[in-house]
Amino acid sequence: MRLLELKELEPFGVGGRRECYVHPENPSRCVKVLRTDDRRTVRLSAKGGLIPPSWRRQYDNNADEARELWRIHRRMGDSMREHLPRCYGFEETDLGRGLILDLVRDHDGRISCSIRELISRGFDPSRLRSAYEELSKFLLEHRILTRTLHDHNLVAKNLGNDCWRLVLIDGLGDPAWLPVARWIPVLGRRKIIKRLDRAWPRIISFAAGGGVSEQLRRKSSWDQGFLRHRGE
Ligand SMILES: Nc1ncnc2c1ncn2[C@@H]1O[C@H](COP(=O)(O)OP(=O)(O)O)[C@@H](O)[C@H]1O
Ligand SMILES: [Mg+2]
Repeated sequence: MRLLELKELEPFGVGGRRECYVHPENPSRCVKVLRTDDRRTVRLSAKGGLIPPSWRRQYDNNADEARELWRIHRRMGDSMREHLPRCYGFEETDLGRGLILDLVRDHDGRISCSIRELISRGFDPSRLRSAYEELSKFLLEHRILTRTLHDHNLVAKNLGNDCWRLVLIDGLGDPAWLPVARWIPVLGRRKIIKRLDRAWPRIISFAAGGGVSEQLRRKSSWDQGFLRHRGE
């Protein structure tokens, strides 16, 4: 069986749960493998005090994300790629099963930074306001449910001339145990609006606080949305 060799490569991004590599054979795609080290974050699939922990599955980011992205692609085709990566399935790697996705790059070919990294480097988030509105419109129009919209899961694609597009690269789906928001459109929309209304003020106040400190970055078990390299 053919294995993609990642072990000797430097991941460009390391989140709490996954390591992300440029696909060795296709620079427009990335490969995400689950972290197996002891410092990774483990998430349970459902939130809420009512569900006993033993009823909750351990959440496999890659499997759940693939399912969500396929579902969206079936519904709307490649136009999803405006604000979401397209999913190309799984490939075996020397670090376990890897999920293959679009890799978001700026107009000059460098891997796009997360909002969290940009802000921490002094970028004024008001420059992303219209891109955020466009993303909001997209999520609502296509009724795309998300978890909490985190600044490290939104990457800002620099299109040149201070034009930006936001792409949600992680955090799709509905963490509720009973997915009623998926079944009942009006509840779905309400939930999306709630997520969107909360995320923007959080981005602004995070910027006002100066972003990620050096100290936090040093002691964190993940890269805090900072890229290790930009895939050049
Ligand atoms: N498709 C992508 N395009 C560009 N950058 C990405 C992409 N996927 C992940 N990244 C970067 O890698 C980091 C970690 O990836 P992520 O999928 O969020 O891991 P985790 O599931 O562990 O949180 C992100 O914060 C982002 O900066
Ligand atoms: Mg993430």
